[in-house]
Amino acid sequence: MVALVVRSPTKIRREIIENAQKMKVIARAGTGLDNIDLDAAKEKGIEVVNTPGANSVSVAELTIGLMLSLFRHIPRGTNGLKNQLWEKKKLRGYELYKKTVGIIGFGTIGKEVAKRLLAFDCRIVAYDVVKDSGGLDVEFLELDQLYKEADIINVHTPLIDATKGLIDDAAFKKMKDDVFIIDAARGGILNEQALCDNIESGKVAGAALDVYDVEPPTDELRKKLIGFDNVICTPHIGASTYEAQERVGEQIVENLINALEQL
Ligand code: MLT
Repeated sequence: MVALVVRSPTKIRREIIENAQKMKVIARAGTGLDNIDLDAAKEKGIEVVNTPGANSVSVAELTIGLMLSLFRHIPRGTNGLKNQLWEKKKLRGYELYKKTVGIIGFGTIGKEVAKRLLAFDCRIVAYDVVKDSGGLDVEFLELDQLYKEADIINVHTPLIDATKGLIDDAAFKKMKDDVFIIDAARGGILNEQALCDNIESGKVAGAALDVYDVEPPTDELRKKLIGFDNVICTPHIGASTYEAQERVGEQIVENLINALEQL
């Protein structure tokens, strides 16, 4: 086999790469490369291609959907009605209007999220090593300052060594009381034990999660986390739209052909 095409659940570990005698290209149909051992691929001279940007709009739209659903209790309202409950008095929520949103990781997806939040009159504060605002009305802050100022913290970094466990207990301590956390990027950036503890203590007012350090999140810690009333969750569907999958499909074929032609 000369090329291997995968999405996110398939882990391409070192032993697979080392035992692949003919493999020349690994094509990742999506953005994150955390499921591929990039060092092992480099050592073996295997090229890795992906489709950055192809699903950014879908992930950004899901992120906004998660924020609105969390703020307005849409999943609980729906489930209540389906079970003949009229919980009108219990479901008072919040506006997004004028909230300060901290976006950690201001790449393509972070920018798409910011663009949409600006239409809600949100104030955007961002953290990224690359300070590219993309022409948007955004203030770049150091992480500690972002934690101090944000009403909502939204993660959009890749999962790499520098971001693994980035949002840990120490980070939660620096945040505002009653902060909201949204993660549609990658499991493992947020320390889920710390998130659980900070929801339990009341520091975090609510969280919306599309990604988990263990997927599906069936172990005790994650069952507890997604079981909180103020946590809403989806099963890693950020890129799962017809439009994004069509773009991803087309781009990965193009990138794969280009890579193979250069062999
Ligand atoms: C990505 O990295 O592109 C997304 O997480 C979508 C996926 O492959 O599941």
